[in-house]
Amino acid sequence: MESTLPDPPVRPWLIRISETFDEFSQEIVHALGGVITKKLGHEYYLIQVSDLGAMRRSAGAKYLRWNLPVDHAWPCNPEKMVGFVEKAAQAMARKFKSQGPQAIFIGQLDPSVTHRYYKTLASNLRGRTLQLFPSEIAGFSEVEAQAGSVPTLFGLIGKEGLFCGLQSPRDSNGFYPGGTKYIAQNQPDTVSRAGAKIAEALHHLLLHRKPLKKGSHWLELGASPGGMTSELLARDYKVTALDRAPLDPRLAQHPNLTFALLGVGAFKPSAVMRYDAILSDMNGEPLEAVRQVARLSANLKPGGLVIFTLKTAGFSAFDEINHLHETALALFIEAGLRWITTTHLTYNRAEFTLFLEFDGSGKSTA
Ligand SMILES: C[S@@+](CC[C@H](N)C(=O)[O-])C[C@H]1O[C@@H](n2cnc3c(N)ncnc32)[C@H](O)[C@@H]1O
Repeated sequence: MESTLPDPPVRPWLIRISETFDEFSQEIVHALGGVITKKLGHEYYLIQVSDLGAMRRSAGAKYLRWNLPVDHAWPCNPEKMVGFVEKAAQAMARKFKSQGPQAIFIGQLDPSVTHRYYKTLASNLRGRTLQLFPSEIAGFSEVEAQAGSVPTLFGLIGKEGLFCGLQSPRDSNGFYPGGTKYIAQNQPDTVSRAGAKIAEALHHLLLHRKPLKKGSHWLELGASPGGMTSELLARDYKVTALDRAPLDPRLAQHPNLTFALLGVGAFKPSAVMRYDAILSDMNGEPLEAVRQVARLSANLKPGGLVIFTLKTAGFSAFDEINHLHETALALFIEAGLRWITTTHLTYNRAEFTLFLEFDGSGKSTA
């Protein structure tokens, strides 16, 4: 006799799609297998999904800056609600205390709003909620102290109300509620805007693996003018940088830097040379950049890291961008690289950041 299985339960989920990909929001949610129920704040959507595994594997997943199951929602205008902090904190304690989150972080649903009301409210709510949970979790004032794979109680708050859920920072795609790590970019010694991208990428990588040790040797492709180079050097890494264009003169004398002014295609390291990591921010034809990284990954140590920005400018359709990403991954995997993740960082523009590691054992799998 044929048995009919009940439909999997539909769950409310909060997703953040960067404004860079706002025009694709319907296609992204469709690819996730979800439906939009409401737009919240500037970049957030409440959606309904049933198959979480399919959602995470879908072509839409790389567009999600951040995401959270909505285990508890209080749709209200907090500014008009008497005793909001106390009522919200008590509700969160009732709902989540027994589940033992590793940490509690609460942020603003719309970080672009200029007045500080919600920033202060988020901080006050976190402070009061922590008082109602075991004292050891209050110790997590530094977001990077969270374990990537252990559930945290995240909350987002805005004029639409409070949305909370329990999920690991890795599954949420960021240590911060909402996923944004702010990186100051206007110091007088900043070489280029791209420095913030590698700073954020290295922060993001902690969701998946330990940081590279000081003294690790990076091969950097497309380094000019050197914003990323300066960030690597500031972390006591050794860098071999290549570009057709020169580096900023401020970097020239750095003892841990070797620079070659040439096209990456002409760079032929010795067969025994081994790097700890490759960083590529090359512009131009994206698949040519992929082929160069794939070729040079033979010079990575086993477990060696690749951080690659896949430029999508000039690819205007959703399917075209997804196809570019799939083709890039296939070439990397063919070269023996294992895919860790792809994300769109706060400091990415029309590009994704891909993280891979060298398998060292021949053909790899996604
Ligand atoms: C977006 S910029 C890199 C910015 C850099 N990451 C920074 O932090 O300042 C891209 C660079 O890639 C270089 N590039 C692109 N294709 C290249 C190739 N085949 N060989 C060498 N350099 C290349 C360009 O000359 C350009 O300087």
